[in-house]
Amino acid sequence: MQVSAENLNNDPIQIALQQAYENSLSQTGGALADYIPELARVDPERFGLALATAKGRLYTVGDVDIPFTIQSVSKAFSYCLALELVGAQEVRSRVGVEPSGDAFNAIEFDPVTRRPFNPMVNAGAITVAGVLRDVYGAQAFEKVLEKFSLAANRPLDLDESVYRSEAETGHRNRAIAHLLRASGALAEPVEDAVDLYFRLCSIRVTARDLAVMAATLANMGENPFTGTEVFDLRAVRDTLAVMFSCGMYDYSGNWICDVGIPAKSGVGGGLIGVVNRQLGLGAFSPRLDEKGNSVRGVNALQWLSNELGLHTFECTNSGSSFVEQLLA
Ligand code: DON
Repeated sequence: MQVSAENLNNDPIQIALQQAYENSLSQTGGALADYIPELARVDPERFGLALATAKGRLYTVGDVDIPFTIQSVSKAFSYCLALELVGAQEVRSRVGVEPSGDAFNAIEFDPVTRRPFNPMVNAGAITVAGVLRDVYGAQAFEKVLEKFSLAANRPLDLDESVYRSEAETGHRNRAIAHLLRASGALAEPVEDAVDLYFRLCSIRVTARDLAVMAATLANMGENPFTGTEVFDLRAVRDTLAVMFSCGMYDYSGNWICDVGIPAKSGVGGGLIGVVNRQLGLGAFSPRLDEKGNSVRGVNALQWLSNELGLHTFECTNSGSSFVEQLLA
């Protein structure tokens, strides 16, 4: 099923998306990630927004077909896959689900369990990469890429140059991985898990891809454009829960209050938001705030949440019914 409503001028969702875009365009604060040259030289003015509904309609505005690396947005999908492959109990024995309240690359572990706090910070995501590597062996990257591609409804690929730079400079992530090895969360060889983590961060996507991937989560794991069952329903539930509480790092509390939807950001400038059973949002704008979240992306999703009443705890529910009516 593919019903594309792309760029329909009088459609109320298209109008809302356009307004979110225009409202966010003037937000030129923040800075490009510069820890590797590839990210430091992207065009800072790029900005794209896409909304894909759980009924298979796609709305876009701006630079939605410009490729960038998925970076930490991959953490949500990798976690979902790990849950599906080995079960929640096994994953939970290796990675917690508590917000850390700290930066994504903090070198810290739960003081009682010694596990990473959650799968959305680097320590947790590297552990999840270890789980995927344990299951799939040397084919792990190809297998995971296949899944991500099914979620995006397009064959995704690796940005080789970003991957090489991540691998050459990722000493902090390697240090985290060795601590994980010491606590038993990772098996030998540690480098396999870290290498998979770097590759997963270096997958190339567009804002359009992110919206479709987010809509696949919103649609209980089924890609609404193809009808393909990509992710297990129960795994999606647990993933959205962790995205809700931990997806925006040490901005997660503010995000839950102000925007109120599960989300995940990446230092490539990508951001996804998921409105359960309704729609997925994908944003791309590479200037980041001090937490590592896209400045325009955060502004645009907050604007859309307010305008369309997408907040999970929207008191009146007028917004939700608004969206449903639009989609009827
Ligand atoms: O681990 C890293 O340094 C990156 N390749 C991924 C980090 C990331 O995207 C954090 N998100 N805001």
